[in-house]
Amino acid sequence: MPAITASFAVEYRFQVHFARDVFAPDHDLLAEILRPAGDQPARALVYVDESVVAARPDLPRCIHAWFGLHEPRGVRLAAAPETVPGGEAGKRDLGLVERVARRAAEVGLCRHGYVIIIGGGAVLDAVGLAASLIHRGLRQVRLPTTTLAQADAGLGVKNAVNACGQKNFLGTFTPPWAIINDARFLDHLDDRSWRDGISEAFKVAIIKDAGFLRELLAAAPLLAVRDAAAMGRLIERSAHLHLDHIAQGGDPFERGSSRPLDFGHWSAHRLEMLSHHRLRHGEAVAIGVALDLLYAAALGRIAQAEAEEVLAGLATCGFRLWDEVLDLRDAEGRRQVLAGLAQFREHLGGELTLAMPDGLGRRSDLTSFDEALFERCASALRRWAARRARPAPATSR
Ligand SMILES: NC(=O)c1ccc[n+]([C@@H]2O[C@H](COP(=O)([O-])OP(=O)(O)OC[C@H]3O[C@@H](n4cnc5c(N)ncnc54)[C@H](O)[C@@H]3O)[C@@H](O)[C@H]2O)c1
Ligand SMILES: [Zn+2]
Repeated sequence: MPAITASFAVEYRFQVHFARDVFAPDHDLLAEILRPAGDQPARALVYVDESVVAARPDLPRCIHAWFGLHEPRGVRLAAAPETVPGGEAGKRDLGLVERVARRAAEVGLCRHGYVIIIGGGAVLDAVGLAASLIHRGLRQVRLPTTTLAQADAGLGVKNAVNACGQKNFLGTFTPPWAIINDARFLDHLDDRSWRDGISEAFKVAIIKDAGFLRELLAAAPLLAVRDAAAMGRLIERSAHLHLDHIAQGGDPFERGSSRPLDFGHWSAHRLEMLSHHRLRHGEAVAIGVALDLLYAAALGRIAQAEAEEVLAGLATCGFRLWDEVLDLRDAEGRRQVLAGLAQFREHLGGELTLAMPDGLGRRSDLTSFDEALFERCASALRRWAARRARPAPATSR
């Protein structure tokens, strides 16, 4: 009997909106996004990152008031907004996923219901996973609240929690219903969190858009002093490039082994672990990007001067491009960060595929890695960072 072939394609479409203060009483963007189901109102559960609530204790009340005011437009809260743990604590296991599922069951949220998630990338990942599982997928509206989440982590089609000792081990590919990048949330970030998203913008510019990279280099002194307009442009451009990759790159659900958006990440993920998360993701990405830029220069893919100009741009934004964990070595004297290569290869399914710039703003993948060459690049980065840290000698008259 011949096999039966089933073949179909599903089209996804979602928008990233840029706004400020979406829960102000007269702001109606969210009311346009939440669609009533026939004559029934759009019912929503709302989850808010605890740090966002700490910075804006009145936010749950504002959300409540906003829904009350806009009820005539057919939107309704299914329950009071809930505060959830921020950062990796919330995606440590399935606890938060089960909590959201229980609440959805208690309030009888049907499959047309919405889950509105307000938080950093970690909260978006964990509550997003819950939303993707309940009734096999509720509509999720994300409001990323960190620069990194607005420029990168909150925009994609993935969600996950950590499990079985591995980061992002349990998750799904589920496109959101909509995303709102609300600039007001960024006002409350401390300097490190504010800076975090910048390295992801450099990452995507280096491999995809030389013009954007020029803009970032020119804007570095402004970004260093928290210029909100410069950050707004960075987020908008970075969001564009990330979404363009998902929509046009031909592999939105990452079935192949090429992961261009993970440029600089093979070492960054390892550095986060080696520092026991003292280094944040964005800080580790800045170092990972610096290492791979010097490696690409050593291979002749970009000029050494180009690599150093980008390193200087990252440093001007406030990133430290050397960290002591880079000096950790195993019993054979090999830098421990290199274990990140094996983990990356395993994650990709056995074959190493590293995105590398091939000329600034362009990329092609590498399938082999020269550890001796990397060793020279790591030493060069250490010297570069030491030179940069040294105050310029006083000029004598
Ligand atoms: N799904 C994806 O495609 C994807 C892509 C990249 C990264 N990620 C994930 O994103 C996470 C990192 O995201 P992140 O960089 O946004 O960090 P985060 O979510 O860990 O947040 C960092 C800290 O900032 C706090 N915070 C969030 N918003 C705030 C605000 N407006 N004011 C004050 N404090 C605030 C959080 O509570 C947390 O303590 C990681 O778990 C990573 O795995 C997911
Ligand atoms: Zn990243």
